[in-house]
Amino acid sequence: MCGIIAAATNRNVGKLLVQGLHKMEYRGYDSAGIALHQETSIVHLRCLGKVRRLEEKMIEEKPKGKVGIAHTRWATHGEPSEVNAHPHSSKERVYIVHNGIIENYIELKKELIEYGYAFSSQTDSELIAHLLDYFLNQKNTMIDAMHSIKEKMQGAYAIAAIDQEDSDSFYLARNNSPLLLGVGSEELFAASDPLAISDLTDKFIFLEDGDVVEASSKAYKIYDKNKEEVQRELTHLNISAQATSKGEYKHFMEKEIFEQPTAILNTIDGRIGGEDVLENIFGEGSNELLAQVKRIQVVACGTSLHAGRVAANWFSSISQVPTQIDYASEYRYKNPYIDKNTLLVTISQSGETADTLSALRYAKSQNYLGSLTICNVPTSSIARESDYVLLTNAGPEIGVASTKAFTTQLTALMLLALSIAKAKDINPKLRTRLATALRALPEIVSQSLELRGQLIEIAPSIANKDNALFLGRGMFYPIAKEGALKLKEISYIHAEAYPAGELKHGPLALIDENMPVIALAPESDFAEKLISNLEEVKARGGTLYVFGNAAGDLSIDSGKLINMPECDFLLTPILYTVPLQILSYEVALLRGTDIDQPRNLAKSVTVE
Ligand code: M6R
Repeated sequence: MCGIIAAATNRNVGKLLVQGLHKMEYRGYDSAGIALHQETSIVHLRCLGKVRRLEEKMIEEKPKGKVGIAHTRWATHGEPSEVNAHPHSSKERVYIVHNGIIENYIELKKELIEYGYAFSSQTDSELIAHLLDYFLNQKNTMIDAMHSIKEKMQGAYAIAAIDQEDSDSFYLARNNSPLLLGVGSEELFAASDPLAISDLTDKFIFLEDGDVVEASSKAYKIYDKNKEEVQRELTHLNISAQATSKGEYKHFMEKEIFEQPTAILNTIDGRIGGEDVLENIFGEGSNELLAQVKRIQVVACGTSLHAGRVAANWFSSISQVPTQIDYASEYRYKNPYIDKNTLLVTISQSGETADTLSALRYAKSQNYLGSLTICNVPTSSIARESDYVLLTNAGPEIGVASTKAFTTQLTALMLLALSIAKAKDINPKLRTRLATALRALPEIVSQSLELRGQLIEIAPSIANKDNALFLGRGMFYPIAKEGALKLKEISYIHAEAYPAGELKHGPLALIDENMPVIALAPESDFAEKLISNLEEVKARGGTLYVFGNAAGDLSIDSGKLINMPECDFLLTPILYTVPLQILSYEVALLRGTDIDQPRNLAKSVTVE
């Protein structure tokens, strides 16, 4: 949700800032801007649209400077427009970029208008520049002013600022939004994500809430929430260039779909030994914790929540533990009753999703046995703040639509189900069966990628529709929901998912030749009932696209039956996800949408 970047170097900084913005475009891409010190003034360029528009503007204007800040925006307050694009300035002295939401902005804006400040945008962010200017005018240093604005503002923010009267430095403040420093040789950087500056340095400092920073090319000072100067740990991270480029693929989403066999292999690597899951894979002492678990509470958002819904079936059948699942954005507001020995499980690709992070923080003040996260980003807030962590090790996921993050989350959640069963010393045979099946999974997922040819064939008959219905039963209902989410998010086709048995309770009314019905039909205890549900669709002229081997006897007049590779039934939700991802991708390709950066969305949702 918005990407911010800052740099103080001895070389021309404009190009570095724009390159960093390109790598953070997944965080928002409705407008972009830059402010940099050029001799005695500040060059300020902004534009509506993607970072490449800003880049074109910079090629024309050729700004030159060594210290600057830049931003790519995902609009919260105020429409996407040049005037709402960051950086915002106050009296052409202070320039700021902001990620987050200032919750008390109406009250602060009123106060600043009374002090004579004029607002030129509809954003909540502009007031940060005016507030800084206000405190600087009270004869404060920039660091004092940064501390003072923190006392006034409520909400979430990562801020980078420059002052026209101090051409050597940039300043930072963080509260509930990701922000880190990158330490180079005689140069300093800051960004929302280490990816943005990973080709400039491999040394990072992850700032904490309440931190304020002053940084020049030669030195930096970090002050904590008590205004005390502090040292923060330096982390070395090697992010390979290959992991952040599209390589031979047209889109990141396509690359990430095809990376799934390797990503799943990385999730299980070093976590299964012999014929069982290894002990303490969630961290030292996790085995003792898991032995005590009587209930699980899952909180997550979007795709990650779908992973939790599938896993609830596994926790029940493999670990003998009941599970409660909540949208992270809803969880705190329902006054959750927390039974004794309940484990909180958060699931997040980015580890920075504000709703999930807030739910985790709330839960930590409640009576949980402990908190455990399934996360892809080791340095993220959720990974750092959880008691126990299992990293999915999927590698950077850049396409906004989650693909390999989901299948690796499912794999990690299966490891959790097995670990609980092992800690409780139950279901030894089932554990052996699933550990063996997990080892075979990457190869079977590779086979499912070969279905692409058949999916390309059916994509045109879905691409020309306005709606689609996804059906599944049991563990496949959340997979149907994930399939519908993928289709709507990248192709903008309205898609809904239903448990197939619910069809006759209402949605059957929607079935006609314009409603493609995509159904998941693995061999299972519910196969017969599911086939009857599909017959009901067929009888009403619906077009059926059926994935799975249980549909063998179903003859369809329009649509297609797609056979799936075989794998252990409990792992089939992972396998069946893959063709749905490819189908959405191929449909979106035909509709010519912006697949990696679909309209109105952003990858890392750091506002509540
Ligand atoms: O980073 P997270 O897993 O916490 O993100 C949660 C959702 O925002 C995310 O899964 C979203 O639904 C994806 N765009 C779906 O493809």
